[in-house]
Amino acid sequence: MNVVLLHGSAHVNGDTDQLADAFLDGLGGLTEHTVTRFRPSEMTIAHCRACMRCSQGAGCVIDDDMQAVYPAFRTAEIVVLATPMFWGYMTSQLKTLFDRLEAVVSAAYFGHKDFVLLVGYRHYYGSIVEWLDRIATGFGSQSHAILCRTYDPETGQDVPIASTPARLDEARELGRRLAGSA
Ligand SMILES: Cc1cc2nc3c(=O)[nH]c(=O)nc-3n(C[C@H](O)[C@H](O)[C@H](O)COP(=O)(O)O)c2cc1C
Repeated sequence: MNVVLLHGSAHVNGDTDQLADAFLDGLGGLTEHTVTRFRPSEMTIAHCRACMRCSQGAGCVIDDDMQAVYPAFRTAEIVVLATPMFWGYMTSQLKTLFDRLEAVVSAAYFGHKDFVLLVGYRHYYGSIVEWLDRIATGFGSQSHAILCRTYDPETGQDVPIASTPARLDEARELGRRLAGSA
């Protein structure tokens, strides 16, 4: 399968990177699939300018690293969004990437896919789950979410994901399930 992995965090090997690795492990790993990773925090991705030139059908006129994302996104059977919650939503880096997908919003790009949301959060994740569900349902795709609290409210301390292996197992299991249903 073609898998696109969008790393929303700038934190390499942080909580959501580890969720992504567990998911890929369950899916069958890098030898079984074509996995294309994008980490927007390390890419040059301009904000959408709402110029609406894309409405003439030629895609986005901004020539930057998004030009590599478009073809990979189109052919992906699985799109993974691995992101921490930042101020109640996905990170701004990932949101900037998604805003630029406005140029290709269509069933050809968003239909017939499994969207996988892997979230690390302290308090709240509702906004992003609802957002992805609405998009996936609208295009006849599926959405799946693994939600991992990386915080202990009693101590007020962050809890690294490595100390909650059950959540990593859930991500691995979701990978196995999607590999089996492909
Ligand atoms: C700037 C910043 C803002 C955050 N805002 C939220 C938030 O609004 N809601 C929440 O539940 N967690 C919030 N968090 C916690 C992160 O989502 C959480 O620690 C996550 O597991 C980090 O994942 P990562 O290691 O992959 O970056 C915030 C963290 C940072 C650094």
